[in-house]
Amino acid sequence: MVLQAVDYDAVCEIGKIIAETPREAPARVVEYLSDRFSHYDWVGIYWVEGRDLVLGPWKGPEATEHTRIPIGTGVCGAAAASGRTEIVPDVRADARYLACFASTRSEIVVPIRAGGRVIGEIDIDGRTLDAFGPADQEFLEAVAALLAMLWPAVPMTSAPA
Ligand code: SME
Repeated sequence: MVLQAVDYDAVCEIGKIIAETPREAPARVVEYLSDRFSHYDWVGIYWVEGRDLVLGPWKGPEATEHTRIPIGTGVCGAAAASGRTEIVPDVRADARYLACFASTRSEIVVPIRAGGRVIGEIDIDGRTLDAFGPADQEFLEAVAALLAMLWPAVPMTSAPA
């Protein structure tokens, strides 16, 4: 289930999306990740607003009730507080985990850093244990760095464009 190697073609495609359609890029990148990688079951971006993470674009089988998460709470809040990627191989074994979907078994959260701080994060849920490995981390950190290039020109908010 994990990515075996960084998908550089996908990194280039995402770079193109960001260069060509910057305003729609966050939503298009979410859609691209969800469509291209079958183990990315639910893909979302949270943006930092004050002391909270607020859900932006997402794609997956179901909506989450966690549309606003205080920084420091849950796996998402931990990644935003530390600025470091979190990989949770078994969500049932992690006390920080905030449950969204009954089908989720593992999760990866990758901070988006710009201007010396965390401005958002990519959150992906997987339906199998251990769905995310080092190549997913390296790949998604490259995607996060590309998304960070939109800042501050493109408003990073949960509001519809
Ligand atoms: N599981 C996350 C909450 C967000 S949902 O997965 C979409 C967490 O523990 O922070």
